Amino acid sequence: MPNLWLIFKNKNYPTAMYPVEEQRRINEISKQLLTSNNVEERNPETIGNGGNAAEAAKTVADLHQVLRYHEWRYYIMDDPQISDYEYDMLYKKLESLEDRFPELQTPDSPTMRVGDDRVSDMPTVPHLTPMLSLENSYNAEDLNDFDEQVKKLADLEADTDIEYVVEPKFDGGTIALVYENDALLRAATRGNGVMGEEMTHNAKVMRSIPLKAAFSKSGIRKVELRGEALIRKDIFEKANKQREADGLQLFANPRNAATGGLRTKDPKETKARGIEAFVYQLGYAENTEGVVVYNKFKTHHDSIEYLGTLGFKIPSAATKVCKNIAEVIAFCNEWQEKRDSYDYEIDGMVVKVNDLELQSRCGYTSHHPRWAIAFKFKAKQATTKLLNVEYQVGKVGSITPVAKLQPVQLAGVTVSSVSLHNEDFIASKDIRIGDTVLVERAGDVIPYIVKPIVDLRDGSEQVSQYPKFCPINKNEQVALVREEGESAWRCPECTCGAQPFQRFVYHASKDAMDIEGLSKATIERFQQLGWLKTIADFYRLDYDAISKLEGFGKKSADNLEKAIEKAKKNPIQRLLNSLSVHHLGRKASKLLAAEVDHVLDFTHFDVAKLTAIKEIGPVLAQNVVDYFQNEKNIAVLKDMESLGVNLKATDEDRKLAQNTEGVLFGKTILFTGTLMQFPREQAEKAA
Ligand code: IVH
Repeated sequence: MPNLWLIFKNKNYPTAMYPVEEQRRINEISKQLLTSNNVEERNPETIGNGGNAAEAAKTVADLHQVLRYHEWRYYIMDDPQISDYEYDMLYKKLESLEDRFPELQTPDSPTMRVGDDRVSDMPTVPHLTPMLSLENSYNAEDLNDFDEQVKKLADLEADTDIEYVVEPKFDGGTIALVYENDALLRAATRGNGVMGEEMTHNAKVMRSIPLKAAFSKSGIRKVELRGEALIRKDIFEKANKQREADGLQLFANPRNAATGGLRTKDPKETKARGIEAFVYQLGYAENTEGVVVYNKFKTHHDSIEYLGTLGFKIPSAATKVCKNIAEVIAFCNEWQEKRDSYDYEIDGMVVKVNDLELQSRCGYTSHHPRWAIAFKFKAKQATTKLLNVEYQVGKVGSITPVAKLQPVQLAGVTVSSVSLHNEDFIASKDIRIGDTVLVERAGDVIPYIVKPIVDLRDGSEQVSQYPKFCPINKNEQVALVREEGESAWRCPECTCGAQPFQRFVYHASKDAMDIEGLSKATIERFQQLGWLKTIADFYRLDYDAISKLEGFGKKSADNLEKAIEKAKKNPIQRLLNSLSVHHLGRKASKLLAAEVDHVLDFTHFDVAKLTAIKEIGPVLAQNVVDYFQNEKNIAVLKDMESLGVNLKATDEDRKLAQNTEGVLFGKTILFTGTLMQFPREQAEKAA
């Protein structure tokens, strides 16, 4: 749903705290410190320069300033200018310098405290114990180091197996809940870790936070629980759709929607956003005598299960008790792969020593517990440079602008080009060539540009000129047109072969006829050889000639023949989809296929008959009519049929004719006995 993410703030924030000039200056330093550009470069030593003590002192001072600034952009302005990963790298650089030059670690260092998410006008309350942050890890090596460290701290043999609990690392807003005498006393955000913002009024409307919980049964009088407030991904998407329809500014992501919802003055708004809360840590517990009873449980896992029995929402789905670090690593890697299948946004896993006694032997730094570590998934966001905008022609002539990026790693994949959709998209985001852009790969895999980082412009950026003529055709100037209601410019009359080429590629693609082994390059070659003039030509290829082509040979020619023979038998829904009728995609092709016995039956369909089909709109209907009234197209279809391509509806087409969405879908209904109202066949049909 990338287009829901299109509207973003795009401002400088000239505040007394950071005047624009100051922001520029800090960003410059930030850029220098991040010379190794991005994601996969994980060695902090390569970022910035920490050679001798004097240089180190300067770098440390720069890092203080830069980290504080980016914390402010992230926590206060909700508008970060660098990716989380880049922030982490700067942070690690500071940590490593402080390790090597301990005299440079001052009490106000960003490593000495957690971030601060307080905004000015909410009352703050102290936490019962400080809410710390977590140390980060990124790979098996980091986790093994952590395991080694735990054993050292706990005075255990190097070959001991430590039991860990691995939980999802929720990407929402941290909360602390205090219960006294079984009643919810107050709720707060993390704030600066010592003081949080009070938000009890909002917590009270969140169904997943019990107002009462029977702690007293276990002798507990007062507790503080830590957890995360989140919005389920599907609820978030629905909410944003609604906001779009209502003309409201869209939420950037589920995290922003949740953290914002925690801080509203109006609990109705919190409720409306559908915010939920998970608890993942028992922070503090005291008994009726006021004695701390944290070690009441033997393990962290027991304590969380206990909270589950009291009615709290606990992360069970992606949680595992692992008997050693190897299992931890396997589980973390498993979830790195399937993070998108989780209902909530998670940006990693949290690994915790399970045994509470062992935890206390490990202890804390001022920043994080030494018994826990976050395993961060590969970054989904990164910043990179927009090098150029290229314009491509699609199968029906639509022009798509494509951003060519300086290659950057995003969640394990190198991204060097992303679609910019259309002219309006570029204009609404004011994306310019030379910009530093924030790129994100969300759950749906297709990467997209979130926003340009306007503050990083130096004046050399160029607005890309949208082409007036077909960008591919070098021989002729074919003027582009933009029809009413369409977002794309189109080349109305292709004379250069660019459009047929795209149609051939689409015809053979996985979604359409699924002809294995027909790469773009092969199609281009066949087209240049004059073998492909219409899509019917795929079915009269001369395999003998193919086997003699350089790089081919008998075996690949045979394989291609097999693949094409197989494609001939496809259900007609695939064939319909393969025709490149404007707006006719996979889903509509299925719906259409269910309506006929033979593809050429569509020559008798008019717009009214087509729009009578559920979900077929007038624009698509008109396109289908135009397609099947065009003699050239009919000739191609007849040609295909004579070459053995199936044009008759198959069982699969009919199977999909059945409604796949209704309440009866997938159910078997047996009609027996005598029916009162209508004959059995009619009843079956109605069902
Ligand atoms: S435990 C003392 N467990 O990650 C231990 N934290 O960078 C503190 N987070 O702001 C945290 N999921 O809000 C813990 N399963 C989980 C978590 C989790 C998300 C957040 C936490 C904190 C941040 C630390």
